[in-house]
Amino acid sequence: TPVAKIAPSLLAADQGDLAGEVSRMIHDGADWLHVDIMDGHFVNNLTIGPPVVAHLRARARDAFLDCHLSCSNPGSLIDGLAAARASSVTFHIEAVGGGDGDGDATSEAAALAATIRARGMRAAVALKPSTPIETVFPLVDADAVDMVLCLTVEPGFGGQKFTASVCDKVRALRRRRPRLDIQVDGGLNEDTVVAAACAGANVVVAGSAVFGSDDPGRVIRGLRRAVVD
Ligand code: DX5
Ligand code: ZN
Repeated sequence: TPVAKIAPSLLAADQGDLAGEVSRMIHDGADWLHVDIMDGHFVNNLTIGPPVVAHLRARARDAFLDCHLSCSNPGSLIDGLAAARASSVTFHIEAVGGGDGDGDATSEAAALAATIRARGMRAAVALKPSTPIETVFPLVDADAVDMVLCLTVEPGFGGQKFTASVCDKVRALRRRRPRLDIQVDGGLNEDTVVAAACAGANVVVAGSAVFGSDDPGRVIRGLRRAVVD
């Protein structure tokens, strides 16, 4: 498995002090900061956009800003995120093409990933829990993406229950791609991470488990220990 990366989700942070929360998490051992960008259309929640990412970048020059777009028109945000110097951009496969992972979705996703990379960022594709993992096989086989995000809850809100059956998808993808970054997001804590990590996930997002703790550093270390390398 590639090296473990722990990514606290800013969705669960103090929204009035995001820059402070970023530095606190880096101090506590976070590898990446997970930034949930939601458009109120792809999901029933509305968060922050490229201008806020730009301000976070100004305050945290070296932070790895992992932007997860739960958005219907991800292509429209790429220029803004590049200007903000986001580190990585993840778009949903359900948000491109016909929205059902058909051939159109594959070619549109490959083109979108190429645009993201051409702007100097890492490109990743996300799948909701009910979307089959085979949907992204053409993309990973072509090395079109740097990471696959397997959502372990329906995107939209923090604090939901981990969907253990998603581990089968992670396992199938890990078998196919031994060195790919595979991210899990939703309901991860020091207990649920074990199944996800055993299945082959190496990038772990955690919102409520980290920010809800009075010792986030301890939770981050606990999550990291679970990832087998
Ligand atoms: C869900 C988001 C997650 C969310 C996870 O829509 O993609 O990043 O912040 O929160 P927890 O860890 O509380 O499930
Ligand atoms: Zn997310």
